[in-house]
Amino acid sequence: METWLGLMSGTSMDGIDAVLVSFQDRSMTLVGTHSLSYPDDLRHRLLSASQNHASPDEIGELDTLTGHLFAQAANRVIADTGADIHSIRAIGSHGQTIRHQPSGKAPFSLQIGNPAVIAELTGLTTVADFRRRDMAAGGQGAPLVPAFHKEFFGSTSESRCILNLGGIANITWLPAIGEGDVTGFDTGPANALMDAWCLDQTGRPYDTDGHWAKEGNVDEALLSDMLSDAYFRKKGPKSTGKEKFNLDWVRTHLARHPDMRNADVQRTLLELTALSISQQLPDYGLKTIYVCGGGARNPELMKALAEAVAPRDLKITSELGLDPQWVEPTAFAWLARQTLEGKPGNLPEVTGASGQRILGAIYPA
Ligand SMILES: Nc1ncnc2c1ncn2[C@@H]1O[C@H](COP(=O)(O)OP(=O)(O)O)[C@@H](O)[C@H]1O
Ligand SMILES: [Mg+2]
Repeated sequence: METWLGLMSGTSMDGIDAVLVSFQDRSMTLVGTHSLSYPDDLRHRLLSASQNHASPDEIGELDTLTGHLFAQAANRVIADTGADIHSIRAIGSHGQTIRHQPSGKAPFSLQIGNPAVIAELTGLTTVADFRRRDMAAGGQGAPLVPAFHKEFFGSTSESRCILNLGGIANITWLPAIGEGDVTGFDTGPANALMDAWCLDQTGRPYDTDGHWAKEGNVDEALLSDMLSDAYFRKKGPKSTGKEKFNLDWVRTHLARHPDMRNADVQRTLLELTALSISQQLPDYGLKTIYVCGGGARNPELMKALAEAVAPRDLKITSELGLDPQWVEPTAFAWLARQTLEGKPGNLPEVTGASGQRILGAIYPA
C-alpha cells in the first residue's frame, strides 16, 4: 500500500500535526497520526519573527530548527506505525508561515521549516513551498485546502461548507451539482484574536475549552465596531493572517471602548469569530457546515457558531470520515501527491490565480 506523509503547522504556531495516509478513489485511510508541540522558546521566537521582529540570521536559524522538528514529527509517525519506509511515497510539508502578504506591491508568502533538512533526516522525498507558485500566477496563495475538500468532502446531492478554525478561519463552499461553483476564502480570525488576548492577559496560549470567555458577556458596541472592519465585507478571492488580525488590532478597537472587563473582551472576540463567519456564508442552498481545526475543540465557540449559523446544522468533519485535527495535514499529503503526479493543486476560482498550477518544490530523497 502506497502512503503519503503530511506535515502542517498553521498560524496558531501551537505545533506540528503529522499524518500518514493512503488515498483511494475519493476516500482515504489514516494509517497514523502524531502531534508535536513547539517548545515554548521556539514558539516565542516564531511569534516574534511573524511580527516582523527577526533578522535574516534569526529567520535562517528558525528555518533550520523548525525543519528539524518537522522531520522529528514525521519520524515519530513512521516509528509509531512501524511503516516500511519504502511504502511511503513522499512527504508534503506546508511549513510554518512567518509572513503572508498577498496584496502588497510585491506580494509574497513565507513558509519556513527547511525541506532539505526534512528530506535528509527522513530519507523521504519532500514536497514543500506550495503557496508561491499560485502567487506567482497572480493568486492569493491561499487557501489551498479547498481542492482537497472538493475531492474528498463534496457531494452530488447536498451542498456543503467546510469551515477550518485555525488561527485564521477559512471556508470552502461545495455546492451540489448544478448549484454553482466551488468557492473558498479566509473569513478572518478564528482563534488568532482570542489566543492573542488570552496570552497577553493571562500568559496562557489559549483559553482552554473557552472557560474564560464563558465568564464574560458580549459587549455589543465593541462587537459592532469590530465587525465593521472592511475585510469582512470584501468579496473573495481574499486571504489574511496574523499580520492583520493580531493584538494590535484588538487594542486599536479597545481604545475606542475603554474600561472593559477582560473576560468581556474575550467573550466578544469569540462572538466576533462566530458572527464574522456566519455573515460570510453563502445565503442559499446550504444545510450543513462541517468544522475542522483546533477551534472545533472549544465548546463555547462551537455553541456560539451553532447559534450564529442556525437553522443550518453545525457538525464536525468526523461525520465525513476525518477527525478535525487531521484535515489540514492530510490535505498537504494529498497536495504532495498532486505535485508528484503532475496535477494542479490550486483552485483558481478560490485563490484568484490566472489558472491551475502544479504547486510545490520537490526535494528528492
Ligand atoms: N481545548 C481547546 N479549547 C480552546 N481552544 C482550543 C482547544 N484546543 C485547541 N484550541 C485552539 O486551536 C488552536 C490550534 O488550532 P489549529 O487547527 O492547530 O490552528 P493552526 O492551523 O492555526 O495551527 C489553538 O491555538 C487554540 O486556539
Ligand atoms: Mg496548529
